Amino acid sequence: MNLSVDIATAGKRSLTLTNPVMVASGTFSYGVDYAKIFDIQRLGAIVSKTTSMQARAGSPTQRIDETPAGMLNSIGLQNVGMRVLARDLAPKWARWKVPVIVSIIGSTVEEYGDCAAFLETTPGVAAIELNISSPNAQKGGMEFGQDPDVAAAVTAACVRATQLPVIVKLTPNVTSIVDIAKSVVDAGASALCCINTLQAMSIDVRTRQPRIARTFAGLSGPAIKPVALRMVWQVARAVSVPVIGCGGISTATDAIEFLMAGATAVQVGTATFRDPLAPIRVLDGIESYMRENNIADIHEVIGAARPTST
Ligand SMILES: Cc1cc2nc3c(=O)[nH]c(=O)nc-3n(C[C@H](O)[C@H](O)[C@H](O)COP(=O)(O)O)c2cc1C
Repeated sequence: MNLSVDIATAGKRSLTLTNPVMVASGTFSYGVDYAKIFDIQRLGAIVSKTTSMQARAGSPTQRIDETPAGMLNSIGLQNVGMRVLARDLAPKWARWKVPVIVSIIGSTVEEYGDCAAFLETTPGVAAIELNISSPNAQKGGMEFGQDPDVAAAVTAACVRATQLPVIVKLTPNVTSIVDIAKSVVDAGASALCCINTLQAMSIDVRTRQPRIARTFAGLSGPAIKPVALRMVWQVARAVSVPVIGCGGISTATDAIEFLMAGATAVQVGTATFRDPLAPIRVLDGIESYMRENNIADIHEVIGAARPTST
């Protein structure tokens, strides 16, 4: 059975995964702790916590709230900063078989470019994922991903700064995700990741205040799966680069839906908090599905869903 997929294909910007199951940024830290729990080398790829040039302390608490079919988070991009990443983490990644993709954020377009240039010379980094989609950044993040021209400027700055594949992670908090997708692909994105969290909130009726310290947070988990699936379907039809599906994927069936909608790979996020083995169960389930249905190559699944005729 062939499960391998190409996330990026052009020259030095190529990245082939042994299978399409990745873990989502911010839900797997820097991978090192999970390596003690299961064989993370089986994963298609690991995406690191979003990291900025300088370390960030993140949001005040309360940062997390549970919702009926998901969770709210406002972690606020807490991270160790690029220098610690390069000194303490990347040397470990360089010994791993599984590719590690580093998610980056900047407060300015230039800072995104600085992060990309810094990672260009850091061994152990397979690709870069641009976080222009987090609703929890006080500076950077979603504000750069809601305007096609600004999103393109960030993408172009990073593509100029590195030979590594540049994956752009899109926000669902826009009127037309397709417009943003086309704009960043024109600016040189190797692949797209759809989607980051939906901006949301909750209120404590006892205190009459928002539960999350920064009022708004990002909604993730099963609640957002149908929205993410719709966006992957739309974006995959609008661009020619690989699309990575993300949002509420908890089971192999969820992942197969995204692949059928046109995703080349998938990322498992919130599900890992309930079950740290969720990404491996998703991979095992995809393999079982392929065996049971006599599918020799994962590309027979990718984009297999057809519009209903009405
Ligand atoms: C606690 C938490 C932290 C997250 N941190 C990041 C982050 O640092 N960077 C990022 O791009 N996305 C971050 N995300 C968003 C996820 O990567 C993912 O896009 C989103 O949660 C939807 O997928 P899911 O429903 O499978 O979790 C975070 C999500 C959660 C729940």
